[in-house]
Amino acid sequence: MEHFGVPTEIIEHGKCVASLALKIATRMKQTGIPVCDAVVAQGAMLHDVGFLRCKGKHHTVRVGTGGEFSFPQDVLVHPVHGYILCQEWGISEAVSRIALRHDILAITSKERRELGILPSSPIDILPHTWEEKAVLCADASLFLSSFGDALWHEPDCAARGLLDILQLSLVPYVAKPIQITHPILQRANGLLSSLIEYVQPDWLVEG
Ligand SMILES: [Fe+2]
Ligand SMILES: [Fe+2]
Repeated sequence: MEHFGVPTEIIEHGKCVASLALKIATRMKQTGIPVCDAVVAQGAMLHDVGFLRCKGKHHTVRVGTGGEFSFPQDVLVHPVHGYILCQEWGISEAVSRIALRHDILAITSKERRELGILPSSPIDILPHTWEEKAVLCADASLFLSSFGDALWHEPDCAARGLLDILQLSLVPYVAKPIQITHPILQRANGLLSSLIEYVQPDWLVEG
């Protein structure tokens, strides 16, 4: 990854996500779900490489009681950039799709077209495979739990944790402020709640 110019912080974050995603994959397999560890590990390491092509101005938001999060204005397209980069690097389709489908802010291809968010996604952006779901779950759990227990234990933790980030990143595309009930945020709640059973709470303390 250093060879491709991937910064240390993306590599280190990839290692944390890979470690948790492999535990989640083990839990999935214990319930009879087939999951390929090698695809999970590679996808987790590469899931955020799309940030290499995000050039937007950085925003910082305070989330929950846990602290601040900094992100580029064009954060919403980092999964698409990640897929395109992985394809350019000759990474397998299964792993490239993890980069495309890892984001809990899973704005569909149709929504992207309607909002004018470019580059558009060549394929559906919602997670389909269990490998994609394991990486999404690991990344989202580490991210949201880092903002404190109070937020993490909220039933709509994902929507609350992501509201300001989505709000700021949609400014170029949406005239009115968005609400916590926005379909993208409700989808994030649904994605997290459908996968959280595979995460053991003490794994997040280590993460
Ligand atoms: Fe990401
Ligand atoms: Fe990530």
